[in-house]
Amino acid sequence: KMMSQDELKKIVGEKAVDWIKDGMTVGLGTGSTVKYMVEALAKRIQSEHLNITGVVTSDATAKQARALNIPLKSVDDVDMIDLTIDGADEISSDFQGIKGGGAALLFEKIVASNSRKNLWIVDQSKMSEKLGKFPLPVEVIPYGSKKLFSKFSKKGYAPTFRHDDTGQLKYTDSNNLIIDLHLKEITHPHDLAAYLAEQVGVVEHGLFLDLVNTVIVGYPDGPKVLEA
Ligand code: A5P
Repeated sequence: KMMSQDELKKIVGEKAVDWIKDGMTVGLGTGSTVKYMVEALAKRIQSEHLNITGVVTSDATAKQARALNIPLKSVDDVDMIDLTIDGADEISSDFQGIKGGGAALLFEKIVASNSRKNLWIVDQSKMSEKLGKFPLPVEVIPYGSKKLFSKFSKKGYAPTFRHDDTGQLKYTDSNNLIIDLHLKEITHPHDLAAYLAEQVGVVEHGLFLDLVNTVIVGYPDGPKVLEA
């Protein structure tokens, strides 16, 4: 049976809520895969009368969760998040990831770093041997962003400013800009992460390293759970 990419996202989104237990504080990621997980979670809360607190990673997820009556709190108002479930743009064979294709990387990384466990849900197209095929998003403050852009250009990172569907510069939920780096292959993710983190004006980058040990991948014959 042929399954569309969207159907693969749905099966992993629905599978992921098996990890959620009554009483948990749950980080809710962002994107078209997480959307299915949030729907499935709302159904479980309703039917099993679960006591769940959600911590969102974007305005978009907040809007969806509120509409589905999932109780929400800010990351600052909870103790530790028990489990965060998020999508990813690319995952390497050693479970390192690129995120931020939906421009939500900053809150996603804050939530992920404050979680006991992080679980990623992706369709099969996101898995790759080495990272770098997906352009690496870097969130930068607008002031000085052209200077950073030329610096990245000179380094050979092939940067582009992110635009929205109307052709305007894309502003994040925190009113920053996104520079995407077209690296093709990232040979030393930790070195690159360290370099980017020390650049003045960089708020956060989309390399999510050493955060995840469980990934659910959607294949046409069903979801597969990979453990590091
Ligand atoms: C949001 O900024 C991203 O990190 C998303 O989690 C990522 O782009 C995955 O989104 P999809 O599930 O829509 O592919």
